[in-house]
Amino acid sequence: MAIHSVELSRESDELFYARALANVASIRELFEALYATHAKRESYFESLLHTVVRAHSQRSQALRQRDWVKLQADEPWFTSNSLAGMSLYVDRFCGNLQSLPEQLPYVKDLGVNLLHLMPLFQSPDGESDGGYAVSDFRQVDPRFGTLDDLVNVQKRLQAEGMYLMLDIVFNHTSHHHEWAQRAKAGDKAFQDFFYMYDDRTIPDEFEKSLPEIFPESSPGNFTYVPDCEKWVMTVFHDYQWDLNYANPAVFVAMLDTVLFYANLGVDILRIDAPAFIWKQVGTTCQNLPQAHTLLQLLRQCVQMAAPGMALLGEAIVAPRQIMQYFGAGAARGKECDLAYNATQMALQWDMLATGDTRIMLAAQEVLLQKPLNTSWITYTRCHDDIGLGYEDTMIQRAGFSPYEHRRFLQRYYSGEWAGSPAMGALFSVNPKTGDARISGTLASLCGLEKALRDDNETALELAVQKILLMQAHSFFVGGIPMLFYGDEVGYTNDYAYTADETKSYDNRWMHRPLIDWAKNKKCSEEGTLEHLLYTATQKLLSIRARLPVVADLNNHEWLSPHNIHVAGLLRTRNGSRPLYCLFNFSNLPAYLPWITLSEKGLSPTLLFDYWTEEEFTVGADEEQFVLAPYGFYLLEQR
Ligand code: GLC
Repeated sequence: MAIHSVELSRESDELFYARALANVASIRELFEALYATHAKRESYFESLLHTVVRAHSQRSQALRQRDWVKLQADEPWFTSNSLAGMSLYVDRFCGNLQSLPEQLPYVKDLGVNLLHLMPLFQSPDGESDGGYAVSDFRQVDPRFGTLDDLVNVQKRLQAEGMYLMLDIVFNHTSHHHEWAQRAKAGDKAFQDFFYMYDDRTIPDEFEKSLPEIFPESSPGNFTYVPDCEKWVMTVFHDYQWDLNYANPAVFVAMLDTVLFYANLGVDILRIDAPAFIWKQVGTTCQNLPQAHTLLQLLRQCVQMAAPGMALLGEAIVAPRQIMQYFGAGAARGKECDLAYNATQMALQWDMLATGDTRIMLAAQEVLLQKPLNTSWITYTRCHDDIGLGYEDTMIQRAGFSPYEHRRFLQRYYSGEWAGSPAMGALFSVNPKTGDARISGTLASLCGLEKALRDDNETALELAVQKILLMQAHSFFVGGIPMLFYGDEVGYTNDYAYTADETKSYDNRWMHRPLIDWAKNKKCSEEGTLEHLLYTATQKLLSIRARLPVVADLNNHEWLSPHNIHVAGLLRTRNGSRPLYCLFNFSNLPAYLPWITLSEKGLSPTLLFDYWTEEEFTVGADEEQFVLAPYGFYLLEQR
């Protein structure tokens, strides 16, 4: 068969042939939706198909086999309760890729079987944004090792039954990338890879509706390039040039990179900043319909060439907008396989500060709309700041003023509010809008840093309890838990970044620890804080891995808030015993009437708590279950 002059042989690969037949029409349709008016669209469409066919023909037998195994499962492989991930910077965790295998027992013992290695590809020192400014998408940065080292790590992970997640920095390149260099040198074809303008006329038009991402360190969205005397769009830092996907050459080149990563054996590809990939004057240039079409097109191509690789959209935007990255309308369930549950993450921090679950519950109406064959990444912290991006109406429904409420949270977590044990900092404060996000490690935001500083035993116990409450909530709420390295042993903020001029402008570095293995090794020394946190995290992950009821099959319902301090979740699944997950976000004991547990058609009489390993007899409806301050319970109906 030939599609648009691209030859496909049925004999050489029956499965690929079938997938090609199934996907090609929609690939064409999506491509047309974006590029119908482009003069060279036919030749670009042809190179797109060549790119997909070539990538598949280069896919190793081992990876084709892995694809096949993943596709055999009854449910999408990434919804399984047996998956748990950790994000880490290879250099800060263990030096380089060569030494990573040595540390695998540490993560495996914890219960982690998916590693998200933070950006590894070449990125200029000092203008790197933690690796998110890439100057070569195919060369591993020498400070991490070589491409061969990365391939070895992938093989080792695969041999250990583990999974690999990497980033594709899809929205922009470093200004040192070859494309940018050639654009600077005056090459028109490469200037068209970016949004480049001779003067400020169009940039000024854009600026009227473009928000600022880093208003303190990188105000404005355009940067003057003296080499070619033009203005280029730089939504993030001035050294990150936005790619122009209205040019199909850019899409084909980036698709080739995506499939190159697929063939390295990436199981989950994190698409960095997908909300930003299409720009249009007069809009915020975020979440535009064409950005979704682009992602759907990308997914169809990946499905064809490397169906075992799942796509994770890192869209840290408003809840309703995040949902769109799973695909909407006719494309429902056909865009990103996974998205970060940034809403629930931020609302966890909201609940922890206020002791009130009502805003979180108000958000569920939106979050529970997730399509069945998709899943979340759930987390308490990541390498980025915490944004309070949930909707004003959600805050209002709980009876608060959005502005005052967010101000309170900012003051609480930055430690400015007198009663707060948190030691975080505000990130990207925008005096024009009053917006600010929050930096700080899980431990420091939960009060551990302050408790240690003040040598306060009671505060320390409370901080530990809060850390575990936050982890437990994110492990059981539905989706793949993604730990952030260091949190499993309670790293507090690291202020060394302030003395490094390549980092001092970005306080997110306070929560990106440099691992001190002498500290981490204490995880096996009883009586240490590290041991306490590591073993508790390990226990939580092992409970999760044993309970198929927590696989993410849209099988959860929130319980009525008879007590507004308690977040209660019921997880059910055919063939499994129901599991009630209860989280008390208050600093006092919480009283929950037993009737709460029988409102969803079940009538439990005996419950086993996997966490404390205690049994509880269910009392009369009006009697109450008492939850410890910041306590949590994983109660299976017996
Ligand atoms: C994503 C990354 C963040 C980075 C930004 C620009 O949001 O997570 O760290 O600064 O993209 O690439």
